[in-house]
Amino acid sequence: MLEVKNVGLTLKGDEGEVQVLKDVNFTLEDKKIYVMTGPNGGGKSVTAKTIMGIHQPTSGRILLDGVDITHKEIFERARMGIGYAFQQPARFKGIKVRELLEIASGKNASADTCDHLHDVGLCAQDYLDREINASFSGGEVKRIEIATILARDLKLAIFDEPEAGIDLWSMQRLTETFEKMNKKYNTTILIISHQERILDLAAEVIMVAEGTVSEITSREKILGEISRLDSDCRCRRDCSRGGKAIAGCDR
Ligand SMILES: Nc1ncnc2c1ncn2[C@@H]1O[C@H](COP(=O)(O)OP(=O)(O)OP(=O)(O)O)[C@@H](O)[C@H]1O
Ligand SMILES: [Mg+2]
Repeated sequence: MLEVKNVGLTLKGDEGEVQVLKDVNFTLEDKKIYVMTGPNGGGKSVTAKTIMGIHQPTSGRILLDGVDITHKEIFERARMGIGYAFQQPARFKGIKVRELLEIASGKNASADTCDHLHDVGLCAQDYLDREINASFSGGEVKRIEIATILARDLKLAIFDEPEAGIDLWSMQRLTETFEKMNKKYNTTILIISHQERILDLAAEVIMVAEGTVSEITSREKILGEISRLDSDCRCRRDCSRGGKAIAGCDR
């Protein structure tokens, strides 16, 4: 359903242009759950934002159900059924939880709204009429962001580190929620995560490192092969100018 073909992305950083993605290739099939993982700074969030249209690729193409969406705007992609829950969600001062969920679903708050809050471990009575201001904890903001994605009827839902700030008690419910969303609404789900528990949900694991997809594989293979990264070895080697051997690096 989603094809990412040879995607490259250059962004302007503090010290000029940086190539953050290079030659990214992967395909997501209909109705499956995928987990994207990899080292910090490897390019997972940037890949997700490029699929959502927050960044426009510098090279390559992105197709949704065969339609080229490479140069479509964010709102067009949203209309076509792509949703993205940010790693660090915005706090919408001056708006109530109920209103935010109504904007997301395009409907008046209903029993479904209560279900969506329940699915992220929030009690609707306590939250619906609360304004999303600074008094919300990080975990609460994160859960409400996830609920806005549940409230939409999506073809592809992307969750960026949904576990961040979510307590142990709610993690179980959250994993069940992803499975339910996938089965009930036939939504293809891409979860960016560092958690073994989330990796358990994956039909396939997409490994992103150093700005590209280094591997598409199974959970077992990823967990069996967590070894030292090339970049780590190169950095240590350059810094110590060929000094001591570094465990896990072939010299
Ligand atoms: N707007 C930007 N301008 C310049 N560089 C950026 C920008 N956004 C991200 N980067 C860089 O791109 C690289 C990939 O960032 P990204 O946020 O995708 O990492 P990640 O894989 O999601 O990491 P994490 O696991 O820590 O969330 C990083 O080196 C980051 O500093
Ligand atoms: Mg990230």
